[in-house]
Amino acid sequence: MVPFLRILGIETSCDETAAAVVERDAEGHSKVLSDVVLSQLDEHSAYGGVVPEIAARAHVEALDELIEEALARANVSLADVDAIAATSGPGLIGGLLVGLMTGKAIARAAGKPLYAVNHLEGHALTARLTDGLSFPYLMLLVSGGHTQLILVRGVGQYERWGTTIDDALGEAFDKTAKLLGLPYPGGPAVERMARDGNPDRFNFPRPLVGEARLDFSFSGLKTAVRQAAQEIAPLSDQDVADICASFQKAISRTLKDRIGRGLQRFKAEFPVTGEEPALVVAGGVAANLELRGTLQALCDKNGFRFIAPPLNLCTDNAVMIAWAGLERMATGAAPDTLDVQPRSRWPLDSNAETLIGFGKRGAKA
Ligand code: KG4
Ligand code: ZN
Repeated sequence: MVPFLRILGIETSCDETAAAVVERDAEGHSKVLSDVVLSQLDEHSAYGGVVPEIAARAHVEALDELIEEALARANVSLADVDAIAATSGPGLIGGLLVGLMTGKAIARAAGKPLYAVNHLEGHALTARLTDGLSFPYLMLLVSGGHTQLILVRGVGQYERWGTTIDDALGEAFDKTAKLLGLPYPGGPAVERMARDGNPDRFNFPRPLVGEARLDFSFSGLKTAVRQAAQEIAPLSDQDVADICASFQKAISRTLKDRIGRGLQRFKAEFPVTGEEPALVVAGGVAANLELRGTLQALCDKNGFRFIAPPLNLCTDNAVMIAWAGLERMATGAAPDTLDVQPRSRWPLDSNAETLIGFGKRGAKA
């Protein structure tokens, strides 16, 4: 038996304003009662990226109504929730302030405990909500702001095994798209173009492939794409398609090497876990079908379960924040006090060294 818990979650760390209500019953069955997300994509697309000030204002304008809607859709009132969970980092400080202050105000007014949640922890624990996964497992987070391979040992117990030393993977997609004249966000556009392209036309670099460390690097790849594009300019549609396909192939190969090593390390450290080991993927880049295929094949080869939560729970949402709060509350962890502060940088693994350039955009997870 576990305690029945119902949590209201709030997410405002980047360009999605989100609120959700999640519960888990005494038998351990979890349920998403509501999941409301308002994307600010339209507000930012003209600028080719997220503009922090615009994001913060948009959160202010939308959040109260979104929370009301999340409660209404869940058919509950504030009196019916056991705690409030709000993202307090990492992310854009303006947005974090909006969400955390709102969370504090509601917690105070309704007399409920507040959990200040690490956004990355939300991503890390989602697979326990969707697939009932048990610890330990590996998580690959690939989004616009992060590229990390994380060992998830337990609630609050994370070890960063690898991270990018320069650009995040989503950022590499976005920058490549931009220099090829494709729309923002770049990932879906690059993937679409790549379908008609020749992946073998350009031999783009695969940085760090072959190295024992589990880190990633994508800025050299972006530079190589720029050079190739400049050499053959003006670009025909076929040229763009070929560049996109070759770019994705280089990334697939890189992931195969890096993650393949990660899976081997996991097997060496946890020879017997009681069940099949698992790799979970999260973040917007996880939408990419070619990369998913690469990871699925890699997992099949290494005897791992490959778990990709549904896309709406892979990208930024408040369900994962509510769930992380719920998991923390269920461990008996004390709630945060109302003087908890937002943190634009907040590594999941506090022992992990900061790598040069890591998280320089720091805004998105
Ligand atoms: O997790 P997410 O929605 O937002 C944050 O970064 O917080 O991830 C967005 C990133 C963007 O960089 C976008 O270009 C990338 O995910 N992305 C993709 C695809 N869909 C979104 N990258 C590659 N292929 C895709 N299909
Ligand atoms: Zn995120």
